[in-house]
Amino acid sequence: MCGIVGYVGKEEALPILLHGLKRLEYRGYDSSGISIRNHDEDPVIVKAEGKLENLIEKTNDGLLFHSNSGIGHTRWATHGCPTETNAHPHHSDDYNVIGVHNGIIENYQELKDKLIRHGYTFYSETDTEVLIKLVDYYCKKYKQGPIDAINKTVVRARGSYAIALMCKNYPNQVWFAKKGSPLIVAKGEDGCYLASDVPAILKYTKNVYYVDDFECGVITGDEVKFFDLNGDDITDKKVLTEIDLPQDSIELKDYSYYMEKEIAEQPRAIKDTIDKYLTDENKIDFPSLGITQEFLNNLDEIYIFACGSAYHAGVVGQHVIEDLAGVNVRVELASEFKYRNYKMNPRSLAIVISQSGETKDTYEAMIKAKKYGIKTLAICNVKGSTIARDADYNCYTYAGPEIAVATTKAYSCQLIVLYLFALFLARTKYAIDKEKYYELIDEVKEIPAKVTKTIECRKQVQKLSARFTEKTNVFFIGRGIDYAVCMEGSLKLKEITYINSNAYAAGELKHGTISLIEKGVAVISIATQPDLLDKTVSNMVEVKARDGSVVALTTKGNDVEGASKYQIYIPDINPIFAASLAVIPLQQLAFYTSLNRGINPDKPRNLAKSVTVE
Ligand code: F6R
Repeated sequence: MCGIVGYVGKEEALPILLHGLKRLEYRGYDSSGISIRNHDEDPVIVKAEGKLENLIEKTNDGLLFHSNSGIGHTRWATHGCPTETNAHPHHSDDYNVIGVHNGIIENYQELKDKLIRHGYTFYSETDTEVLIKLVDYYCKKYKQGPIDAINKTVVRARGSYAIALMCKNYPNQVWFAKKGSPLIVAKGEDGCYLASDVPAILKYTKNVYYVDDFECGVITGDEVKFFDLNGDDITDKKVLTEIDLPQDSIELKDYSYYMEKEIAEQPRAIKDTIDKYLTDENKIDFPSLGITQEFLNNLDEIYIFACGSAYHAGVVGQHVIEDLAGVNVRVELASEFKYRNYKMNPRSLAIVISQSGETKDTYEAMIKAKKYGIKTLAICNVKGSTIARDADYNCYTYAGPEIAVATTKAYSCQLIVLYLFALFLARTKYAIDKEKYYELIDEVKEIPAKVTKTIECRKQVQKLSARFTEKTNVFFIGRGIDYAVCMEGSLKLKEITYINSNAYAAGELKHGTISLIEKGVAVISIATQPDLLDKTVSNMVEVKARDGSVVALTTKGNDVEGASKYQIYIPDINPIFAASLAVIPLQQLAFYTSLNRGINPDKPRNLAKSVTVE
């Protein structure tokens, strides 16, 4: 969602801030702004609606002003429309405090009323303006420095925030605080930085501090200082971490779109994830898993919490874990689970899946499980993310940075971790014998090569995509694991093409949905599960009989030609791992259809890469 960047140092601040904002664009935004300052001169604020290019143009490509410090922001509107007035930075009336904010202040109205009683007026509809003016109020009321004012503000504000502030009497300094929204600060050779996400600063430094909740601090040209809620200096307790990411991992290289690049990167990403956990002796080694044999033996049930595509990966995981390890799995939409009065089983494990590791709903579901005393295992792609840091155990995916809004390679790596977890559990609980285990491990090791082969069929999918360009409704049907893939294929299509699409368990078709099938309606039927093939083929025939246009997505060798108009074949694979291949043509179909419709697949409207509000 929103992005924050800040800098103080020897270099020109404005180009650094604009570069950082460019790198944060992928998170999703609808306006942007910067505030910069040259030493103790007056600060300048520039804001723009819409694309970052508008801000870049307004600042003459970053050449408009000299500056050595500043803050920048990309805003994804929550309180108030995406106008220039509502864009950040916001400022107190006398520009004593200028700031940017990610997150939501839940009690902003109450705080606003308090400030109005003290003579403050407001020019925007945002909760951020309230937050900034509250810091200003405390600065003036108690005649104390920014740390005390920030801490007083933090104690009063409910909700989540990462903030970066500039204060009139403190040139060459940028202040920060965090609760619930990610924030890193970093030291480079020519200055210090802060950002809501690593790509913003990766060009300049790899040495970062993760800011923890209820910490605040300041960056100057050459140092970073941290304080706790009491105002005590805790800098010595903080650990500088080196980011393990090459700068070119976030470059487009020869591709026109990140989504295209990330689809192509899947064999590498999957292999890297397998290699991290599989030893030379084909044992699964989850080094960060302190889970004991006794714990696993006593395990009654597994919960999986996630949102969006990560939830869809969880549904595949449910089938694989239940089939291989014989442990019951409940997969829950994290965004719904918190509203349930469900009594969690204490003899369980909660797996939370999140690419970003910042999804608020998923985080809340994890915290709910923790309140029941249930151990939590996070499958995240971003090291040091909030979910990863607060989970009991971590099994990272090694997809590398995912920039396109629609997930592809991270989803594929989530599947791999779930397969390996299922195999690990199955072997630990002796649910499968050694022979079966090694046979399945060999199959997992073949997935990267098979994904490469599947990707190579893109020309056929691209051709097929032309038939989807003008569609207004698409259905996906399948059973079991195939249904889980349907949900993912359908989400991919709708989010980046804006075509209405729906996934149905094929057996549900006759319970209502079939009334929508008429001439020309496109139905993508996934049929990779041999045990379910006949039944799904019957559903295809039913659609065909009503003049629906059926695309069958199946494994080589399956006879679906009579029941469908078009066929896409994936390489032969053990059905339990078929999701890893079946999802590829669906990613490609969404990608090419999006291009056909003149949409930038990397930045679909209204969407944010990391959803940090509920
Ligand atoms: C769809 C997509 C989203 C995310 C969802 C969860 O392409 O990317 O549905 O899967 O917002 O995000 P994470 O995995 O970061 O928790």
